[in-house]
Amino acid sequence: MPTRTVTSVIGGRPAADTPAGRVRSTNPAHLDEVVAEVALGDAAQFAAAARNARAAQQAWADVPAPVRGRAIAHIGRLIEDNKEALSALVTREIGKPYAESLGEVQEIIDTCDFFLGEGRRLYGQTVPSEVPDKQLFTFRNPVGTVAVITAGNFPVAVPSWYIVPALLCGNTVVWKPAEYSAAASAAFHELFCRGGGLPDGVFNVVHADGPATFAGLEQALGAGLIDKVGFTGSSEVGARIGELTGRHLQSACLELGGKNPMVVTPYADIDLAVEGALFAGFGTAGQRCTSLGTVICHESVHDEFLSRFAAATAAAKVGDPVQDVLYGPMLDAKFAERFEKFLGWVSPRHTVLGSTGTGRITAANPREGFVGDPEAGLFYHPTIVDGVRPGDEIFDQETFGPLVGVTTYQTMDEAIELSNAPGYGLSSAIYTNDAREAFRYRRGVSAGMLSVNNSTSGAEAHLPFGGNGKSGNGSRQSGLWVLDQFTRWQSVNWDYSGKLQKAQMDVVELTPDSDFRLA
Ligand code: UN1
Repeated sequence: MPTRTVTSVIGGRPAADTPAGRVRSTNPAHLDEVVAEVALGDAAQFAAAARNARAAQQAWADVPAPVRGRAIAHIGRLIEDNKEALSALVTREIGKPYAESLGEVQEIIDTCDFFLGEGRRLYGQTVPSEVPDKQLFTFRNPVGTVAVITAGNFPVAVPSWYIVPALLCGNTVVWKPAEYSAAASAAFHELFCRGGGLPDGVFNVVHADGPATFAGLEQALGAGLIDKVGFTGSSEVGARIGELTGRHLQSACLELGGKNPMVVTPYADIDLAVEGALFAGFGTAGQRCTSLGTVICHESVHDEFLSRFAAATAAAKVGDPVQDVLYGPMLDAKFAERFEKFLGWVSPRHTVLGSTGTGRITAANPREGFVGDPEAGLFYHPTIVDGVRPGDEIFDQETFGPLVGVTTYQTMDEAIELSNAPGYGLSSAIYTNDAREAFRYRRGVSAGMLSVNNSTSGAEAHLPFGGNGKSGNGSRQSGLWVLDQFTRWQSVNWDYSGKLQKAQMDVVELTPDSDFRLA
């Protein structure tokens, strides 16, 4: 397999220099395989990209929206024609099972399909005035230049949630993808630029580490070059980005972590709940922001659920992501290291189930039924931790990786309290066949998204996606809702009466007979 060289692309040209050196992006299922050599930019390179994007913005906004919509249509078709190649690259670079990578690439196509028509809509309104011979209107204007900073667990789908609507609305973009998914990002960027026929400077990509990106963003915001920031990543970094953009009177679109609960009630189909928990907890090796955090089981069904969940987890296929497995490796070494820390939070009060060991899967710490060579990559045992309670780090904190906590509740109020206790609010699920329970839970849960009898993960690409509390600042992506992130409303009033008509003052009053009563 070839090693690619990946560089930033600014104003249509690959960056000639590598001011911050090079890093390697490796295959986490075969650590000796280098997927890409990545030339990193510095803060000045990020700011230069923002300058290029700013310079290209007015001309891009002047392209009629239906023409921009056609560009999105062409991008979607080109991605469809390259679906297998892009999916294979995603699997090779971050270790996502191939079937999931195909789903991820499909999510870009779905997003393009949704927004290509928006080019012919992007509606404003005509609004009646309170005085005669005057008309009111609303227009959507692009915000301007957008910085998009994304994680590598969804190296191409999640970026498309920002970049497709941002471009469609007439914004230009500077994108900073994760270093460990640089090759997939470079392929995405090329498909967009070529497929869309985008003019130079409309879509720029900068490869850089976190500190250089933050410093570059600070410079670009200070110079008035960035009007909107979209960020997917940790709550900690999201808070810093929110603070930085707030100083510039901007509100970032933040998609942060989750500690997503799944409630299993006495009215649940237990087998269905087990199937949902298995995919939600261990699919993508638990590395989705929507992955299951804690199963909150009614005490009457806890033992039955737990024994079936443990058996299903023990039987699940883990290993080589090009084969038919539930999950493959950790995305990158830094996630494996962090996951080891989370495993250190398991205490003697907890009961651990789900595999033939815990921690990294090796020849000395094997997993029964492992598919492939565990020593070749960053593979971890699936771990169910029963008996977690508020105050335990495992219950309170996001534990990105193949780890699911289990706890019990007695009343629905308690299930809601336990669901909300960690302070996140991204996704949630309830398994029940009782409509009253489902609707009561919906009202009480703090999450931006709720699945009934379905996994916490796997949102469809045209419903609002986003969270509350530590999961975000209330911004929503996808569907029509994301248009409010990438456009600003402009109100227009046009008085053609030929005289000054003062609002609220020159308004005709009708005289009601308020004392009238039926005889
Ligand atoms: C993420 O992990 O950042 O709903 C996004 C889901 C996917 C997206 C996850 N469609 O699980």
